[in-house]
Amino acid sequence: LPTKKFRIAAIPGDGVGGEVLAAGRQVLDHVAAQSGAFSFEWTEFDWGSAYFGRTGLMMPADGLEILRDFDAIYFGAVGWPGVPDHVSLWGLRLNITQNFDQWANVRPVTFLPGVRSPLRKADEHALDWVVVRENSEGEYAGLGGRNLSGRGPGNEVAVQTALFTEHGCERIIRFAFDFARTRPVKRVASVTKSNAQQYGMVLWDEVFQRVAQEYPDVDSESVLVDAMSARFVLRPEDLSVVVASNLNADILSDLGSALAGSLGLAPSANLNPERRFPSMFEPVHGSAPDIAGRGICNPIGAIASGALMLDHLGRSTEARQITRAIEQTTAAGVLTPDLGGTATTDQVAKAVLDALGSVV
Ligand code: NAI
Ligand code: MG
Repeated sequence: LPTKKFRIAAIPGDGVGGEVLAAGRQVLDHVAAQSGAFSFEWTEFDWGSAYFGRTGLMMPADGLEILRDFDAIYFGAVGWPGVPDHVSLWGLRLNITQNFDQWANVRPVTFLPGVRSPLRKADEHALDWVVVRENSEGEYAGLGGRNLSGRGPGNEVAVQTALFTEHGCERIIRFAFDFARTRPVKRVASVTKSNAQQYGMVLWDEVFQRVAQEYPDVDSESVLVDAMSARFVLRPEDLSVVVASNLNADILSDLGSALAGSLGLAPSANLNPERRFPSMFEPVHGSAPDIAGRGICNPIGAIASGALMLDHLGRSTEARQITRAIEQTTAAGVLTPDLGGTATTDQVAKAVLDALGSVV
């Protein structure tokens, strides 16, 4: 039987990136072997802060061309002491998301059995929401400058401009409504700070109101970001899809994953929905220098990102198998120290593989 081969570029990056990606690859290879219908051909790239130390670049100058023909990118994390964070982030991760027009960043907030949430409501309600992040413009458009009129040290001026286009707002808002239609609770909350930021965010609000009218079957509401951060804690049970600009969604998704129990649990998909470029799948967390190299980081965010990648590649059955295996693992109490457990990264990966069952 001919098997479909998915060509994946793996970029472990820095710190725990390599540890969590290794776990995720094991799980992905396992479900592929079990299905017998497809396989992964991995090409690993050693780009990141060590590469920067050798070459002065986070990735080679032709890196984007190298990545272009892969079916997807599986990414760890980037950032390490010694390289300024804005250099490492823009040099690798944002270089890829921006140039491959991965304008939709989907960040599920996953509450898992056996994981104690700091949120009491999580005991009473089945919580399940997704942050949809505008991933191409907004506050991370990279527009601005420093020392604009040669004022010099001690008198510097910096401007950081947020960019909002009607096109950019409309496509992410539409994406959020379409996504909500696929979920059990059909509801979209749009988040801005349009009372204080009267240009870009008012444009966003207006586009949201207009697009919402085309989705009468989906509930919609506009919420200010400060109120939404309180709502995540106080009334999370009526959230489903939360759509927000680049910075606001970045912050809200970290808050969401902390409420779910740990930053180490949260998966993420950077999608180019038109599929003109490969999409990129990565855990939400960073390189965690404080625990890197000790074999104790939580691989679940990376493993769950692998499930999002499978979904994108059209293998939703196997994606669901991985999700179920993660749930069985946490329910059985196989937890890394960030979740109050004593399991190692390898033990969690092994438990997920065991829950998937053997390859026949
Ligand atoms: P971080 O996410 O690396 O760590 C924050 C806290 O969460 C730390 O206490 C860490 O130990 C913990 N943590 C993170 N991932 C974990 C995991 N898998 N298992 C258990 N605990 C985990 O964020 P931080 O410390 O602000 O940044 C460290 C570096 O990572 C910086 O250089 C930063 O720029 C970079 N970074 C990169 C991101 C990316 O590549 N997407 C995202 C966020 C930060
Ligand atoms: Mg973040």
